[in-house]
Amino acid sequence: MRALIVDDEQNIRKVLKIILSESDFEVHEASRIEEARVLIKDYVFDMALIDLRLPDGLGIDVLKEIKDTTPETIVLVITAFASAETAIETMKAGAYDYIMKPFNIDEIRIIINNIKDKILLQKRVHELQKFEDTFEGIVGQSEAIKNVFNLIEKIAPFDTNVLITGESGTGKELVSKAIHKRSDRADKPLVAINCASLPAELLESELFGYVRGAFTGAYTSKRGLIEEANKGILFLDEIGEMPRSLQAKFLRFLEERKIRPIGSSKEIAVDIRVIAATNKDLNSLFDSGAFRKDLYYRLTAFEIKLPTLKERSEDIPLLIEHFTKLFSKKFQKNISKIEPSFIDYVMKLDLKGNVRELKNIVEREVILSENGEIKCTPCPASPNHDRTTEDVPEKGIDLKEYLASIEKEMLRKAMQKANGIKTKAAELLGLTFREFRYKLSKYK
Ligand SMILES: Nc1ncnc2c1ncn2[C@@H]1O[C@H](COP(=O)(O)OP(=O)(O)OP(=O)(O)O)[C@@H](O)[C@H]1O
Ligand SMILES: [Mg+2]
Repeated sequence: MRALIVDDEQNIRKVLKIILSESDFEVHEASRIEEARVLIKDYVFDMALIDLRLPDGLGIDVLKEIKDTTPETIVLVITAFASAETAIETMKAGAYDYIMKPFNIDEIRIIINNIKDKILLQKRVHELQKFEDTFEGIVGQSEAIKNVFNLIEKIAPFDTNVLITGESGTGKELVSKAIHKRSDRADKPLVAINCASLPAELLESELFGYVRGAFTGAYTSKRGLIEEANKGILFLDEIGEMPRSLQAKFLRFLEERKIRPIGSSKEIAVDIRVIAATNKDLNSLFDSGAFRKDLYYRLTAFEIKLPTLKERSEDIPLLIEHFTKLFSKKFQKNISKIEPSFIDYVMKLDLKGNVRELKNIVEREVILSENGEIKCTPCPASPNHDRTTEDVPEKGIDLKEYLASIEKEMLRKAMQKANGIKTKAAELLGLTFREFRYKLSKYK
């Protein structure tokens, strides 16, 4: 905790300093407004004690300046010339309290101790709120995810490249957004591209852009995504899929910070920060030569490894609740209860698709929910058990019959939900009335 004393009387500063130090404050002193201003610029104070009459002006101005920059600083005003007006004025300007000179040391000690408790409590609340159960939209309370929050918070303000690794659906894209939001580039674009989504040549032209006539079909010039991301962040998803030929070109760009659009003779300087993501182990791609080591090192000034859902299974109930709220709102369903057996069931599933898979399960259950309650419809005992995570049984199955049973069950539920109104039931299942009627007759 840090405190500032602004008073021109050296003796008073001395006494206050002793009391504040006893209460574990790091104390800074100023005898004039001018000195106080310098300190306010350099430090954030948890509390300040300000004399109202100072040789170069009024203490209330210092009070206002402090409240402007750090409203949470607790300011105690000291004055020898108390009047009702000054009291009102200082309290209005945001003073916590004011004390009169000459003051009683014990009284001051009590006030300062109270303030200390208040500050400590504030800090504690702040600490708890910081990562309560979500951080920039990333939900979780487990140690594993909190470590990720901490890392994001630490590295986001620094202009280094980051590699985010983690299994599919663990939240890599979400993390890239959090870094962007917390970075100095937050007000500049975050441009994302999935390296697996395009064939090599197209990916190159998407990234680097091209000029008119650069190749057949290039009727106009097009700015590349790297240029689009200028001053901002480029998010390269599935970096492991970047074609080898393009890796060399991209590496050159990272080294020189310049691009030359395809077909152009001019180079363009670009200032971007790169965040890359992969669900592959890039190390294993080195051996096969599919990924360049030098590019890997360029991209991994920092690596954020996202835990699988299994590694943070204690977050599952929280995530279920979060997604239930999300989808209740989306589908305008008023859900007030989640059956514990549903949570138990989900906790036992082997969710290879991690949070994404969990999200999908909850979405389905919200849609299927009745009477504002999420029941365990996918539980093994129920015919609507989430079969996608099941293995084929030893004795084998009849896939057609298996799928038909799911279809039949869904038709039944839809009819129930639509109170027997077929057109509505059809709509719930995204079928035309004709398709619905046909299916219904098939299973009757
Ligand atoms: N901790 C979380 N809290 C809330 N939502 C999350 C969390 N993690 C992931 N999600 C959600 O799960 C879905 C998948 O997340 P995201 O797309 O970030 O994963 P990914 O790691 O990029 O997956 P992939 O490797 O398949 O591209 C998204 O809808 C995202 O909003
Ligand atoms: Mg992704």
